[in-house]
Amino acid sequence: MANYDYDVIFIGAGPGGYVGAIRAAQLGLKTACVESRETLGGTCLNVGCIPSKALLHGSEKFAEAVDGTLARYGVKLGKVELDLAALQADKADAVKGLTGGIEFLFKKNKVEWLKGHATFKDAHTVTVAGKDYSAKEIVIATGSSVTPLPGVEIDNDKGIIVDSTGALALDRVPEHLVVIGGGVIGLEMGSVWRRLGAKVTVVEFLDQLLPGMDGDVRKEAAKIFKKQGLELKLGTKVTGAAVKGKKATLTIEPAKGGASETIEADCVLVAVGRRPNTQGLGLENIGLELNARGQIETGPDFRTSVDGVRAIGDVIPGPMLAHKAEDEGIAVAEYIATGTGIVNHDVIPGVVYTMPEFAGVGLTEEQAREQAAASGSEIKVGKFAMLANSRAKTNHEPDGFVKVIADAKTDKVLGVWAIASVAGTMIAEAALAMEFGATSEDIAYTCHAHPTHAEAMKEAAMAVQGKPIHM
Ligand code: FAD
Ligand code: NAI
Repeated sequence: MANYDYDVIFIGAGPGGYVGAIRAAQLGLKTACVESRETLGGTCLNVGCIPSKALLHGSEKFAEAVDGTLARYGVKLGKVELDLAALQADKADAVKGLTGGIEFLFKKNKVEWLKGHATFKDAHTVTVAGKDYSAKEIVIATGSSVTPLPGVEIDNDKGIIVDSTGALALDRVPEHLVVIGGGVIGLEMGSVWRRLGAKVTVVEFLDQLLPGMDGDVRKEAAKIFKKQGLELKLGTKVTGAAVKGKKATLTIEPAKGGASETIEADCVLVAVGRRPNTQGLGLENIGLELNARGQIETGPDFRTSVDGVRAIGDVIPGPMLAHKAEDEGIAVAEYIATGTGIVNHDVIPGVVYTMPEFAGVGLTEEQAREQAAASGSEIKVGKFAMLANSRAKTNHEPDGFVKVIADAKTDKVLGVWAIASVAGTMIAEAALAMEFGATSEDIAYTCHAHPTHAEAMKEAAMAVQGKPIHM
């Protein structure tokens, strides 16, 4: 048998690669992880999940002070001012603490960090900073980067046309921020800068925000964000951008065609999706081909078409989410070490961390109806408004609902959708229920603590059977 330097090398130390590497080492494999960034943690910890949540949390506190939310509770404030540098420093602290934490975990678990950019020499060898390293198995976990929009050139240094990384690092509150793309990044970052005082316009190609989410949730999202002062230009596309001095002029037109108009902005965020990182990896050296969407296809054990090479996370098909990448990291390590691993790709929750939060797991009502029609079955849907939930009402959080979708015959839960201040936390219950194959009756007869937002989940499940108590 060939003599390799390592049992396994992970390329990329994002939530997929770093979690996989730690798990592999825990399982006794000699493990290395290649990362070209200065810090570990990938997109998520450095320029994604964590910094965006730090700014969402901080900007929410600021908005509570400014919009009278705190005053309602008798918190008397003097003149409220924003110290953006302090907010950015808090964000940087969160990132530093967590990325440093991964470095500590690597040392603790004896995962070797190979610093630099990895390129495949052959299926068992990568070159990093001029040196070759071999492994029995190599796992590609290189993640994704922003999809560019032709005609709209991103320059994060100038800070006028930016991507999410630039939008996380602005040193000023824009007067007018135009967000191109009404998806997750657009709405999270749009919310941050709106709360801090910017006028925000969201230009979205489709007729609704948040593609992929349940239809009711998408409709409600438009209402809620409009109420919060975001201007929405749905069914609209950007056809070009020109920067002059500190201003950008965008040309927009109806997505279906028609007269064009221009909008001026001092900041433009391009957030039209992300694409897998596969360039510069030397995939041609190992004959690994990409699918039509530029992704690496794998089997259930994350094997690619090349023996000894597996792939996980944003670089393979599926939702581009940190927790999906993490679970795949654990599973691929377990497959390599033991021959089995588990990721249930049908039960991966998704959350938009705005206020309120938008969350879902499983099928949308539209998908469930379509599948039922195809198989000759039917579905039942139960909905419960947050307005009727005692805790949400007490906290002055009237927006949102919980919706439970179940099979009409078996009552098995097929999907759950929630809009609530803590929907991201609430959806974990639904994911667990679905993982265990629960029925809506199982949720309805599970005792939920009072007064909690989670009671809305129970009542929505009761509504599937036509009998909620509080509505
Ligand atoms: P990544 O995290 O992208 O990590 C890949 C790493 O590989 C990078 O560090 C890169 O430098 C390195 N790399 C690439 N090529 C090479 C090479 N050849 N050699 C060496 N190193 C290489 N998801 C959520 O679930 N929740 C959220 O709240 C959330 N918020 C987000 C907010 C923003 C603004 C963005 C942009 C994304 C957010 N995401 C969120 C998505 C999440 O960040 C990704 O799904 C996740 O990071 C994917 O993990 P990954 O390990 O596949 O790749
Ligand atoms: P997205 O896919 O969520 O949204 C992109 C939006 O841009 C879509 O609504 C799309 O219709 C629209 N669009 C595409 N081309 C357009 C055009 N030319 N003009 C106007 N609109 C256009 O992608 P986004 O927001 O960039 O996020 C990328 C990924 O990062 C997502 O897949 C998401 O999963 C992940 N992410 C997750 C977060 C979370 O879990 N909370 C937070 C941020 C990002």
